[in-house]
Amino acid sequence: MTTTSRKGIILAGGSGTRLYPITIGLSKQLLPIYNKPMIYYPLSVLMLAGIREIAIITTPQDQEQFRRTLQDGSQWGVELTYIVQPEPEGLAQAYILAEEFLNGAPSAMVLGDNIFFGHGLPDMLAEADARTTGGTVFGYHVSDPERYGVVDFDADGRARAIIEKPRVPPSNYAVTGLYFLDGTAPARARKVTPSDRGELEITTLLESYLGEDDLRVERMGRGYAWLDTGTHGSLLDAGNFVRTLESRQGMQTGSPDEIAFQKGWTDAAILRKQAQLFGKNAYGAYLKDVLEQE
Ligand code: G1P
Repeated sequence: MTTTSRKGIILAGGSGTRLYPITIGLSKQLLPIYNKPMIYYPLSVLMLAGIREIAIITTPQDQEQFRRTLQDGSQWGVELTYIVQPEPEGLAQAYILAEEFLNGAPSAMVLGDNIFFGHGLPDMLAEADARTTGGTVFGYHVSDPERYGVVDFDADGRARAIIEKPRVPPSNYAVTGLYFLDGTAPARARKVTPSDRGELEITTLLESYLGEDDLRVERMGRGYAWLDTGTHGSLLDAGNFVRTLESRQGMQTGSPDEIAFQKGWTDAAILRKQAQLFGKNAYGAYLKDVLEQE
């Protein structure tokens, strides 16, 4: 079992209006990123962090599709809990919805449309996980920071504020959608009041940690990819990125099957069954290779 009591949350709600008409009938986080549903990638991040109890937050109407796609998680040695977000009222709302599930535990929340790739990721995640109090978030240099929560650094390079979608960004560092927070997050989220756009902003929750000097803003360097999936073009770019990488390396990224097996959470029989399920394509063939190399 995992050595930490940290639990995971994947926020996969929202109406995905920016990707209409594709997302009229389909949840954004189930759209393909090349050969896997989008949510496989953030799920893999939580699994790489060693997290095995994970809540999936979805809209009421999409929950069934997620259950069908991800099932109960036992095929990956994890336990999935499904929680409904009745109305999308902001990212911080996820902590209120997941309060009972978390039951006082620290958490790692990842947005269901955030895709991370990088050699040092497992170590970076382990470091964040090891901090049991306060919070850790990751800043990533982007060309269009005004679309995100943006870090304002002081002269010593320490974060002094996080500003949601600023018209004039104080830096190029966007806060990625991966939040390691301690067990006080739900109580803090309850105190967040809606912003001008009517949402319980994650940045307001993060500022509550920052105000107590209890938030680490880790810079995710240029050796990492943090991909956007928010527009039709960037969605395709993300798919092409994964395809380029996987065909060059002959290895998969974002494979919960492989991660679970390598962590010893599943055995050869389970992986063989999964490989058979996907037997008609390269993903299944890859799982067979993983099995044979064991
Ligand atoms: C949300 C957060 C923002 C964060 C971003 C990461 O933005 O509000 O702080 O930088 O996710 O993906 P949204 O995607 O809801 O516009």
